[in-house]
Amino acid sequence: MSFFDTPVERRGSDSVKWGRYAGRDVLPLWVADMDFPAPPAVLAALHERVDHGVFGYGHPPEAATEFVLAHLAEQYGWPVAAEWIVWLPGLVTGLNVACRAIDGGVLTAAPVYPPFFSAPRHFARPLARVDLACRDGRWGWDLEALQAGMTAETRLFLLCHPHNPVGRCWNEGELQDLAAFAERNDLVVCSDEIHCGLVLDSARRHIPFASLSADAARRTITLMAPSKTYNIPGLGCAFAVIPDAGLRRRFQRAMDGIVPHVNVLGFAACAAAYRDCGDWHAELIDYLRGNRDRVAATVDAEKRVKMAPVEATYLAWIDVRGLGLANPAAHFEAHGLGLSDGADFGAPGWLRLNFGCPRATLDDALARFANACAAA
Ligand SMILES: Cc1ncc(COP(=O)(O)O)c(C=O)c1O
Repeated sequence: MSFFDTPVERRGSDSVKWGRYAGRDVLPLWVADMDFPAPPAVLAALHERVDHGVFGYGHPPEAATEFVLAHLAEQYGWPVAAEWIVWLPGLVTGLNVACRAIDGGVLTAAPVYPPFFSAPRHFARPLARVDLACRDGRWGWDLEALQAGMTAETRLFLLCHPHNPVGRCWNEGELQDLAAFAERNDLVVCSDEIHCGLVLDSARRHIPFASLSADAARRTITLMAPSKTYNIPGLGCAFAVIPDAGLRRRFQRAMDGIVPHVNVLGFAACAAAYRDCGDWHAELIDYLRGNRDRVAATVDAEKRVKMAPVEATYLAWIDVRGLGLANPAAHFEAHGLGLSDGADFGAPGWLRLNFGCPRATLDDALARFANACAAA
């Protein structure tokens, strides 16, 4: 039995995901955390830090920065200097700080993770939203639509890479097109790369947007974290990589007085995750591939629903418009399955299914999925 097969009871815990359906027979496959324990090396580092017993204000430990830099160099061949790192308590904070820091309009492509829509709103930044293209069942960019979405005031492009919810790991050609677009229009790019450690296709690799060229580096705020990959989002430890000193100062000024420091446990977990969890990570990816294939097989068997291949993330983006339901999320919930409503991502009629769970849970969920389809 795999480490990932062992169920952990999350009902009655502090889990947002499981708490939504407390007391109901609904399997929660919505919010993006996994039902797996953190890697043993992360747990050991946390125990050690707790045993120290004192939790005063902490500065970023050198080890955390050192292992982040080593990880970026090893995994992506991306040389990053320590002073480019700005620690953050979360990626959503980073998206909001970017919108606060950059005076002007914001451009993004839908469907996308909902805070891409709300962050510009929080700072009264006009948001231009274009659609990703889905051609022959594969998601991609519509560069003409992107250019048409530009207004005279647009200054910031919010990129989701890999993309939640469509599951694409953008390839080098696509990223080069986006970099040329950003350069032509002189845009700052905020690249949310929180899912970069979750590339499932062995033929693909994550390429940090800022690593493409000196120009891309100069105009980019990259947001990353160990949170999704090592399943520690509740520990609140993330970082921005901002090579350009001027852009970094603007970002840091926008954080002043409102963004709290990363907590000491988050730093301990982050250092251990990047230092010690290579084997755990390889096993996780293998397990998630198996889960992804089960989801794809179930969806393929249902003639009226569709999904594109999931190249990265543990999220399947499913088109259920063929079922003709007025409220798909409520229908699936009534059949014992809690999924994310596509409407929140800018795409009513779609659902997002989180397959980051033990296979026994997933198989139960997929049986419920099939029942819900049959009942529609
Ligand atoms: C693309 C993306 N960005 C950010 C987040 C959340 O980041 P954080 O919990 O660090 O604020 C998520 C979580 O699902 C996400 O999918």
